[in-house]
Amino acid sequence: MTQLEQLKNCLNVEDLRELARRRLPRPLFDYLDGGAETEITARRNTLAFDEVPLFPECLVDVSSVKTATHILGQELRWPVMCSPTGASRFYHPDGELAVARAAAATGTLYGLSVMSTHTLEDVASATDGPKVFQLLIFKDRDLTLELLARARTAGYPALCLTVDAAVRGKRERELRTGLGIPIRLSLQGIAGFALRPHWFLGQMRSGSLQLANLARRATGGLAAQSRYAGEQLDPAATWRDARELIERWRGPFAIKGILSPDDARRAVDVGATAVIVSNHGGRQLDGAAAALEALPEIVHTVGDRVEVILDGGVRRGVHMLKALALGAKACSIGRPYLFGLAAGGAAGVRRALDILQAELVLAMQLCGCPDLAAIQPTLIRRR
Ligand code: FNR
Repeated sequence: MTQLEQLKNCLNVEDLRELARRRLPRPLFDYLDGGAETEITARRNTLAFDEVPLFPECLVDVSSVKTATHILGQELRWPVMCSPTGASRFYHPDGELAVARAAAATGTLYGLSVMSTHTLEDVASATDGPKVFQLLIFKDRDLTLELLARARTAGYPALCLTVDAAVRGKRERELRTGLGIPIRLSLQGIAGFALRPHWFLGQMRSGSLQLANLARRATGGLAAQSRYAGEQLDPAATWRDARELIERWRGPFAIKGILSPDDARRAVDVGATAVIVSNHGGRQLDGAAAALEALPEIVHTVGDRVEVILDGGVRRGVHMLKALALGAKACSIGRPYLFGLAAGGAAGVRRALDILQAELVLAMQLCGCPDLAAIQPTLIRRR
């Protein structure tokens, strides 16, 4: 069966996950799929959607459904962002370029991670689709400001600051294979790569793997660059740093990694224009609330002042509809498009986005919602 036929046979995100699992070396699949410690928060992110039953409305004309919206000052064809994820070339040689192209083709916002394996400049010039560059506060503030300036020069319309990764979560699947920081493959890890020789062939054709945005500061390839990046995470960063970055950027600015209404208020106070309700896909604090559980109170507190984006656990279009009904302006997805990337490059990302988009439209029709404004809290009655 050709790769395109395999993609076509995937009916949902879980099917793409299974295809990704079969294609990737085990350490890379575990890096993609895993969460912190017991992975309870990673699982809870998706399970939380099951706790929210829908009460649909009928006999509404849903013969045409409109999903277009504006997020972070940009026009999207549907209310979805591809969350920033580091090192996308792990999953396919075309890495972030493939994701950016598929996102642009479907009118989806692309969040490029500072830890990308293509430079932010190359990704910016690959498409004119909606995009946002994701930054961290590094110990070396000059590096942070240099990256902000590069994002401006490259033409990113918006910036996103991730605030839940000042230290790295304890991801035990990574520790077992040795793909954490520093990278030091265990026997289990080496065996996992040895069983997938086609992965090396793909990577060999596309040059050495780098954390490309940091290559000017840290030479010596991926292992040295990821160690450098790990050392640069700054546990001393505060809201004052966030405010300084926002003042410098002077444009649409999202703060990602908010779970409490108090932090959402602080984000608004320092000048953010969007908050991304997120626990980093359960990769940081195990035991943290599911993003969906945190959403309603945050919407209640700041929803009239900033855009609130729900990030984490979305695996179905109907999950998006539930998040929108609880007041999110958009949803953000990480693993779903990475499964697609691993399963089939840009075509696989496209497949993931097309599946979710079709499911969202179907859920809207079945709930009697011809447009996004019709997705109201009345569709949900909290138990
Ligand atoms: C991430 N995430 C992430 N977040 C971020 O701000 N910067 C980053 O570089 C990364 N890197 C990263 C790598 C991988 C492999 C994953 C799975 C996730 C978190 C990401 O942006 C997002 O918050 C979660 O992926 C959302 O959860 P779901 O959609 O994966 O359930």
